[in-house]
Amino acid sequence: MSNLFKFFQVLAIFVFYYIVIVECSRSTLGRTFFIAKESLNNSITSDTLNAGSLLRCARACKSKESTCSSVYFYEKTGICSLNTGYINVKLTETQSLSTNVQYMELRDGGCKGLLQMGRLTSGEVTYSENGKSITVFCDVHGDHGYSFISKAAISSLTPLDYVCQYKQEVMLRVLRPGGTQGESVLKQLHQYQAVYNLSFFLNRYDGYNKPLNPLQPYFYLAFLPSSMAHVQGTIQGYNANGLDFNFTSSDGNPNSYFIFFAGNQRFNVSRLYNTTMINGWITAALDVSTDRYLPTTNQTDKGYFMPFEVHFGGSGGLMMSNMITHVVGAAVGCRFAKDISSQLLFWPIIYQLCLECSCH
Ligand SMILES: *[C@@H]1O[C@H](CO)[C@@H](O)[C@H](O)[C@H]1NC(C)=O
Ligand SMILES: *[C@@H]1O[C@H](CO)[C@@H](O)[C@H](O)[C@H]1NC(C)=O
Ligand SMILES: *[C@@H]1O[C@H](CO)[C@@H](O)[C@H](O)[C@H]1NC(C)=O
Ligand SMILES: *[C@@H]1O[C@H](CO)[C@@H](O)[C@H](O)[C@H]1NC(C)=O
Ligand SMILES: *[C@@H]1O[C@H](CO)[C@@H](O)[C@H](O)[C@H]1NC(C)=O
Ligand SMILES: *[C@@H]1O[C@H](CO)[C@@H](O)[C@H](O)[C@H]1NC(C)=O
Repeated sequence: MSNLFKFFQVLAIFVFYYIVIVECSRSTLGRTFFIAKESLNNSITSDTLNAGSLLRCARACKSKESTCSSVYFYEKTGICSLNTGYINVKLTETQSLSTNVQYMELRDGGCKGLLQMGRLTSGEVTYSENGKSITVFCDVHGDHGYSFISKAAISSLTPLDYVCQYKQEVMLRVLRPGGTQGESVLKQLHQYQAVYNLSFFLNRYDGYNKPLNPLQPYFYLAFLPSSMAHVQGTIQGYNANGLDFNFTSSDGNPNSYFIFFAGNQRFNVSRLYNTTMINGWITAALDVSTDRYLPTTNQTDKGYFMPFEVHFGGSGGLMMSNMITHVVGAAVGCRFAKDISSQLLFWPIIYQLCLECSCH
């Protein structure tokens, strides 16, 4: 009997160390890859040290969070490079053991990272991405939420690929003249949801039409791919809070966008083609409870609510926010969700251990 007890004791210790050591060094801290030689780019390295283990290397990076975004860990020598940015790696590189260099991205400072660590309250968070600080508002709904992007984050022009990874939907928040806020989850029209993702750009409009108000910086949210938006006679539009707002494109003009302007210049183009379709996301918006309100400010270059230009078609509609009075501004929230691995009960504790202790 006592032998059996000892066996389980030893087993428990093994399991614990397995979780702490093996899992710590894996994706808990960030995405980790063995990278191919071609991907290694030393021009992002700002510092090197002898760390001995990937975990120590990651922790050295964490302690310099404002400048360090990723690391290279050279397995043979134990050398660790602290990087100010990220490189493009493909998932398949995990299997490619052509180098003994591991690459780990440390990007857990945003809303998703906080959720992962079990810190669930909604609120404003500033963290580092590519050496630049980014401010977002985390709106948490249990196991997922939305990172509302501050005007400051758009103005810093740091790529938002990490914040806006999830491309099946986007949350728009409207500020009404009385100060109340409403929200709409925007997706593709039902018929396109399985086929096309949304696209997000900063100061670019790849293949789409350029903003009529050429004011920078801006966040560009595109619906149908431009190849499709070009086709006359197709059904186009968007879905807001489960309702399709559609139209048939009359001229193949590839406008299928929402643009949010983060700067403080005034619009110099004023146009409105007010339709049910172009208003759908506003009329379908659901009231938000005051405890989830995004901070508002009347400094035009701060906060979250922005002037916007919404343009669809063809015959969809065109709305510039300076031409309407029922909405003052709109904010953009990108969805984030907990990783499946973090659904484990003790994950937040292990995650903290990983960050705080020296496991090796
Ligand atoms: C290496 O990184 C620098 C700085 O981010 C970038 O300008 C350059 O294009 C990268 N080179 C390659 C081959 O990816
Ligand atoms: C849409 O993006 C998700 C990631 O958010 C990806 O897994 C999926 O394959 C993409 N779907 C299409 C149709 O491109
Ligand atoms: C929009 O969709 C509805 C139902 O899905 C359809 O009845 C209607 O004709 C569509 N409108 C346009 C303008 O295509
Ligand atoms: C609007 O203003 C921008 C600069 O703020 C300028 O480049 C552009 O030419 C102006 N457009 C018109 C139509 O006045
Ligand atoms: C800013 O907004 C507050 C409340 O919304 C208002 O009382 C105040 O007058 C505004 N200040 C300016 C300078 O517009
Ligand atoms: C545009 O249409 C919406 C919804 O029908 C309406 O509430 C709004 O007052 C209209 N705006 C203008 C300027 O006509």
